[in-house]
Amino acid sequence: MAESRSNPQLAAVRLADYQPPDWLVPDIELDIRLDATRTVVKARLHLRRNGRHDRPLVLDGHGLETRIIMLNGKGCANWPNGDTLTIPVDGDEAVFETEVVIHPSRNTRLMGLYASEGRLVTQCEAEGFRSITWFPDRPDVLSRYRVRLEADKALYPILLSNGDRGAARDLPGGRHEITWTDPWPKPSYLFALVAGQLAALTDEFVTMNGRRVQLAIWTAAADVPRCAHAMAALKASMEFDERVYGREYDLDEFNIVAVADFNAGAMENKGLNIFNSKYILADSETATDMDFDAVAGVVAHEYFHNWTGNRVTCRDWFQLSLKEGLTVFRDQQFSADQGSAAVKRIDDVRALRAVQFPEDSGPLAHPIRPDHYVEIANFYTATVYNKGAEVIRMLHALLGVDGFRRGTDLYFDRHDGEAVTCEDWLKAMEDANGIDLKQFRRWYEQAGTPRVSVTLTQQGGRAELVLRQTVPPTPGQPDKQPVHMPFRLALIGRTSGRRIGDEQVVELREAVTHLTFADLPEPVLPSLNRGFSAPVVVEADTARADLAFLAAHDDDPFARWEAFQQLALSVLGSDDDPAPLVEAVRGTLADPGLDAAFKGEAVLLPTESFIGDAATIVDVEAIHRRREAARMAIATGLESEWWAAYERERTALAGRETALTPEAKGSRRLANVALSYLVTAGSDRAFAAAETQYHAALTMTDRLAALRALVNSQATTAQGARAAVLADFHQRFAGNNDVIDKWFSAQALANRPDVLDQVERLLKHPDFTPSNPNRLRSLVGAFAANQRWFHAADGAGYRLLADQLIAVDRLNPQSAARLAVPLGRWRRFDAVRAALMRAELERIVAAPGMSKDVLEMASRALA
Ligand code: ARG
Ligand code: ZN
Repeated sequence: MAESRSNPQLAAVRLADYQPPDWLVPDIELDIRLDATRTVVKARLHLRRNGRHDRPLVLDGHGLETRIIMLNGKGCANWPNGDTLTIPVDGDEAVFETEVVIHPSRNTRLMGLYASEGRLVTQCEAEGFRSITWFPDRPDVLSRYRVRLEADKALYPILLSNGDRGAARDLPGGRHEITWTDPWPKPSYLFALVAGQLAALTDEFVTMNGRRVQLAIWTAAADVPRCAHAMAALKASMEFDERVYGREYDLDEFNIVAVADFNAGAMENKGLNIFNSKYILADSETATDMDFDAVAGVVAHEYFHNWTGNRVTCRDWFQLSLKEGLTVFRDQQFSADQGSAAVKRIDDVRALRAVQFPEDSGPLAHPIRPDHYVEIANFYTATVYNKGAEVIRMLHALLGVDGFRRGTDLYFDRHDGEAVTCEDWLKAMEDANGIDLKQFRRWYEQAGTPRVSVTLTQQGGRAELVLRQTVPPTPGQPDKQPVHMPFRLALIGRTSGRRIGDEQVVELREAVTHLTFADLPEPVLPSLNRGFSAPVVVEADTARADLAFLAAHDDDPFARWEAFQQLALSVLGSDDDPAPLVEAVRGTLADPGLDAAFKGEAVLLPTESFIGDAATIVDVEAIHRRREAARMAIATGLESEWWAAYERERTALAGRETALTPEAKGSRRLANVALSYLVTAGSDRAFAAAETQYHAALTMTDRLAALRALVNSQATTAQGARAAVLADFHQRFAGNNDVIDKWFSAQALANRPDVLDQVERLLKHPDFTPSNPNRLRSLVGAFAANQRWFHAADGAGYRLLADQLIAVDRLNPQSAARLAVPLGRWRRFDAVRAALMRAELERIVAAPGMSKDVLEMASRALA
C-alpha cells in the first residue's frame, strides 16, 4: 500500500512475518480494584521462555498509567516506550509484575474496561486487553487466569469474571471481593469482567454426561423477564452442540451479561459472554420476529464459540475466519434446525449479497484469510464472517454430514487447547476423509466473488450445459485461479414443471465444465446453484418467460425464490412494463403448495442497492423510479388479492397473535407484506387498516410494520396518520433503547424525498447519542443504506455522513470506521456522485488527528 510508506501510522502487519511468541505466560494473577474513574490493576505473570533464544520480553500496553514494574520481586529500570515495554530476562522462567491505573469512565472507545449505564464491563477482542494491563496481547499466548475483583459493594454488588467463582467476602469500608479461577488456558482476548447492579434470569442445563450447569443472564432488574427467549435459545444451543457435534459445556456455570453500549453484537469470553443488549432483550411488545430470531442466532453463535474459538483458538488474527466463519456456519445450522430452513437460507443469502458481495467487488475486498492489515478491528467483516461461513458450508456439501463430522471430531481431538490456523482446520478435514483440498484452499487466498456463466443447448432428448467460472480481479490480486466448488443443479421439465431425474452436486474445478444429459422426456430448464451451494454470481441469460416458469415450478425453495429475483432484476434493469412481475406475484400468492412464510419472501422485489449492484454504474434515480413503478403495479394490480391475503392471515392469527411458531411468524410476515402493498396502493381503507393495526397490535412485528407502511407512504392523505403514529411510538417506548433505535431507523430509511431534512432534525434530537454505537447506526448507518436519498445528487447526504464520521472518530474509532464503507463505493456511481464521494473521503483523510481505523478504511477506498 502506498500510504504505508507516506504515513507511518498506517504500517501493515503481515501474515508472512508471523513468529511464535518468545515468552509464554502459563499463569496470570490479576488483582483489580474497580472504580469508575480510577481502577488499579495489579498483574503477576508467570513467564516461560519459548524455545532457545535470548530475546527480551516484549509487552503491549495502551493508555496505561504505569506505577510499578517488577521482575522476580525487584523493581525494573525499564520503562514503557509508547505502547511497548521491553524487559530483558535471565533464566527460562520468571515472575513479572506491574501495577497500572486506568480510567473506565473516560473510555469512549469501548475497548478494554469501560463504563456502561453505571456498570463496568470489558471488551478485549481483538486488542483490548492491552488497555487493561501490560501483556503479550496476542491470541497464541494462552494462560490460566486467577482474578481477584474488589469494589464498592453498593455500587457494584455483582462481580463476574471467567471460570469458577470462589467465595465472596466483605471488606472494610463498604467494599467486597471475589476471586474467579478459570481452569481452561485462554488467550487474553477472552478475558472478561463485569461489575455492577445486575439481576439475573437463572436456569440449569444438565449436559450429556450429567454435569449440572448453572445458567444466568444478567441485566437491569426491570429487564429480567425480557431474557426468557435468550435463555431458551441458550439451552437449545447447548443441546444442539451435543447432538450435532458431540460438544459438551465445560464449566459449572455459564453467564451472559447484556449491556447497552457495545461495539459489536456480542463477545464469547470464556464462561462470561457479554452481549449488546439488542441481542438479548426481547418480548413480543418490543421485539419483532426478526429480532427474536437474531437473539437466538447470536446467543447460539457465542455459545458455539466455546468450542470453535475458545477450546480451539486462533494462532493470529489473520486466522479470524477459522473461528468466525465456522461459528457463523454453526449458528446458521442451528437456526435452520429450529425454524424454517428454506426461509433461513434465503435470509442468509440476502444478507450475504447485501453486505459481502459489495465488499468483495469494491476497494475493501480481501480474502477470508487476509494477508495484511493495519487495524485488525477493520477486519471483522462480512467477508471473514459470512463468506467464511459459506466456505465452511461448501466443505459440508463436499464431505456430506458424516464426513464433515469426522473432520470436526479430528479437529477437536487434535487441537484442543491450541491456537491454530486455517491450514490446521483444512488438514483435519483432509485427514479425516482421505481427500485433497489443495484447490479448495484458493477460497482462503483469493478475494472476489466468482462468476459462473451457464449456457444450455438442447436437441431431441439431449441437453448440454457448459459452466464457465471466472474470479474477478480485486485490489492487489489481478490474476485469479479457478476454485473448487460444489454446484448443486437439477433439470426442470419445461412442459410438466416437474424435476427430471435427481439433483446432482457437480464439483466444478476447471475454468470450463461440460455436462451432458440424454434421454430427456421433454425440453428442460436448469435449476442452478440450488440452496445457494456456492457463494457465486450465476450468469445464465435465461429468458424472462423461463424465469417466470421457474419462479412458479422450481422444487428447490431457494432456486424458486432466486428465479423471481432474477426476473425482477431483468425487468427493473429496463423501462419495460412490470406486468411479468405482477403475474409472477399473482401466481405465488395463489399457489396452494406454498406456506405463508415463503410467500412473504417470494413477493418482495430486490432492494434498490441489490439492483444497483447488478449494474456497472448505479443509476440511482432510474432504479428508484422503476422499482417504485413496479411496486405500485404489484400493489394496484393485485389489490383484491392483497386484501384477501391480509384478511386470511389476520384471521389465522386470531387468538395466537403473539405466538412464535413458524406458522404464526409466516402469517405475520405475509400479512405485513400485504399491508405495505395496500398502503402503497393508497386507499383510505388501507390507511385506516394500518392505523388500526398500529394501535391494536399485540406484537412489535405488527406495530412496526404498520408504522413503516405509513412512514413510507407518499400520500398526502396519510400525513396525519404518519405524524400521529410516530409521536405515539416515541412516547410509548420512551427510555427503551432498542425500540427507540427502531424509531430512528424507520425515519432514516423512509422512502420519502424529505429524508435528509428529517435526519438532520433527528441528529439534534435529545435521544440521539452518537457515543452509543446502536443509536449511531440506527440513524446515520440506516440513512447511508437509503440508496435513493443518501445518494442525493448534490452530495448533501455524503457531507452529512462525513461530518458525523469525523465527529464520532474522536469518541470511538471503530464506530467511525464503519461509516466510511458507503463512501468507499464511489467507483460504482456516476462521475458527479463519484467526485462528491471522493471529496468527502479526502476531507476525512485530511482532518487532523484521525484514528488509524478510519485512515486505513478511507485510504483503501481512495487507492
Ligand atoms: N468475536 C465476537 C463475535 O463474533 C466479535 C468481536 C468483535 N470485535 C471487534 N473488534 N469488532 O462473536
Ligand atoms: Zn463470533
